[in-house]
Amino acid sequence: MIIVLIGYMGSGKSSVGKILAKKLNYNLIDLDDFIEAKEHATVSEIFKTKGEIYFRKKETEYLKTLLQLKENTILSLGGGTPCYGNNMDVILNTEHATSIYLKGSLSFLSKKLFKKKAKRPLIAHIETETLLKDFIAKHLFERSQFYNKAQIHIVTDHKEKSEIVEDIILALF
Ligand code: S3P
Repeated sequence: MIIVLIGYMGSGKSSVGKILAKKLNYNLIDLDDFIEAKEHATVSEIFKTKGEIYFRKKETEYLKTLLQLKENTILSLGGGTPCYGNNMDVILNTEHATSIYLKGSLSFLSKKLFKKKAKRPLIAHIETETLLKDFIAKHLFERSQFYNKAQIHIVTDHKEKSEIVEDIILALF
């Protein structure tokens, strides 16, 4: 089985993925890390030198390749991955994949992301927490239609990572 973690930037996909993979003894693949290794460049460098459209093309290509894995795998996606092309439908149509939306609220996400925006090219330039919150509000509204299609939704606000993992396991098995 492939467990696909989706959600907005800062929703905890990568860190929850790590704990979940250990707990279930699954392989772990973080799509951003995978792209960085394949492209020999960080996500920020790819955005800067080749542009976002190139990044989205590679993201879609590697997603489709990775969804063909037959081993038990936790696949944590980038925040935008389900929102481009037909990616969300491809995920939903992959029989051996289960999609999980890690759902953070606007205020939790913006507080967390303001401290961790440097590595994220879409928000790195936003100077104040208020402006960032405005950006996220609009972006999250646009993206929610894709995230909401996930088979399982887990609310992450006020929870430790370990609690989120427990909630996922309860929902899955
Ligand atoms: C993006 C999210 C990032 C990364 C890229 C674009 C997005 O991943 O893929 O910067 O469009 O939301 P995280 O969700 O892990 O930050």
